[in-house]
Amino acid sequence: MVASAWAHAGTVSEAATAYQQHCAACHGADRLGGMGPALLPQSLERLKPDALRDVLRQGRPATQMPGFAGQLPETTLDQIANWLRTAPAQAPHWEVADIRASRVVYHAPGSLPDRPAFQADPSNLFLVVESGTHHLSVLDGDRLAPIHRFQTRFALHGGPKFSRDGRYVYVASRDGWISKYDLWNLTLVAEIRAGLNTRNVAVSDDGKWVLAGNTLPQTMVLLRADDLSLERVYPVTGANGKASRVSAVYDAAPRSSFIVALRDIPEVWEIPYATLEPRVIALDDVLDDFFFDQPYRHILGASRNGAGQVIDLDAGRKVADLALSGMPHLGSGITWRRDGRDVMASPNLRQGVLTVIDMQTWQTVATIATNGPGFFLRSHESTPYAWADAMMSPRRDTLQVIDKQTLKVVGSVTPSPGRTAAHVEFTRDGRFALVSLMEDDGAIVVYDAATLREIKRIPMDKPVGKYNVFNKTTRSSGTSH
Ligand code: HEC
Repeated sequence: MVASAWAHAGTVSEAATAYQQHCAACHGADRLGGMGPALLPQSLERLKPDALRDVLRQGRPATQMPGFAGQLPETTLDQIANWLRTAPAQAPHWEVADIRASRVVYHAPGSLPDRPAFQADPSNLFLVVESGTHHLSVLDGDRLAPIHRFQTRFALHGGPKFSRDGRYVYVASRDGWISKYDLWNLTLVAEIRAGLNTRNVAVSDDGKWVLAGNTLPQTMVLLRADDLSLERVYPVTGANGKASRVSAVYDAAPRSSFIVALRDIPEVWEIPYATLEPRVIALDDVLDDFFFDQPYRHILGASRNGAGQVIDLDAGRKVADLALSGMPHLGSGITWRRDGRDVMASPNLRQGVLTVIDMQTWQTVATIATNGPGFFLRSHESTPYAWADAMMSPRRDTLQVIDKQTLKVVGSVTPSPGRTAAHVEFTRDGRFALVSLMEDDGAIVVYDAATLREIKRIPMDKPVGKYNVFNKTTRSSGTSH
């Protein structure tokens, strides 16, 4: 339904009045959030119409969100749902003063002990994002057992990012909260709200900066990594004067810079740590899903229509086209060595294939048929196999295991028939593969990475991703960073 078709004045004011009366106390009079999450159109992008209907009627069990079935008329609930999908009459803003005022420092820099408060190897910890009730779990990667669990802000977006020594981890929430945790002391250190709707966060390899990429407002926000204080807000506006949402920010450690993918303008930005001034690389197409080669010299990008290209970041221009079909998920690509050459492989969101590309010629060397479209592909330097899910298909319960040399499927695992299994991360030594059973009463299922035998199940609340400190901080070629 087109907003204007129903949004005549009477209905809007009815919905707005009901909202102020029944919802504003938790979600904010301005819909920017409060004790409950923000309810702007951008906030609700990933919530399907049926899911929105259901949450208004039934609420969310085990949270503070009440159900309004029986309490508000059906028509009012439908009006509220439509109204929430439309932008507020006054565009919401989030300025320097708002960002500064939002900051909370729980532990000042230097005030906590400089050694881990536990026995486990701090470099083999895993951080598990449990999206069900918004928690982060810390797993000991040697004992494969949890040692701690944090409540987080509503809906973390993008992966957690570690400082180089693995001590600190930074996460972004959908509603723009950036949180810094001290993993050695198992405590939250500081938080700041960098935006109203945020894609993700990146941390500079020199440990000084945290960059947050927003979709609302259309900005990037640079914070000091030690106490999350605000350094600078970058408006994201292209050469053509058009503002853009940020798709993602990345730390390009070997280049000592951040790289920024933009959603609405054909540009890539590079922000060197040394100058903090954006360098703009003009593209002929908008690219918002990126893969970097290991030296961060090249970007492999896909445009929305699936066409792929290779950008040389030093030369600042396109150097090759990629022969891709469907909708490759380059951001989840991995690399390894095969027959003395570097190859890159990525899953595909629309087709049941993995595409393998030669990193010298940029030619497709193989297409591996899988059970169905998938989201993640993962491996590790010390394992001969790559693991692929088929989570966008009816075979979402099964991961296939591919030999990185023969490019043949050599096995599969189905942790729980009929239930979604995806996202593999290896232990530091590559011996065990941890798979997420992404359900409300889900689990991390641990497999022996050589025999594919199940070793253990650790119950978790909708675990979406997990991140090994060593593999992330050393930028393992088997995982996205
Ligand atoms: C007592 C506080 C409270 C009240 C009152 C309340 N909510 Fe919520 N609401 C929450 C909380 C907390 C959540 C997050 C639940 C979770 O963790 O999934 C939430 C979640 C939601 C969501 C899902 C957001 C998402 O992105 O998944 C919607 C939509 C929503 N509320 C709409 C409303 C509307 C409309 C009203 C009024 C008719 C309302 N809420 C009243 C606390 C409240």
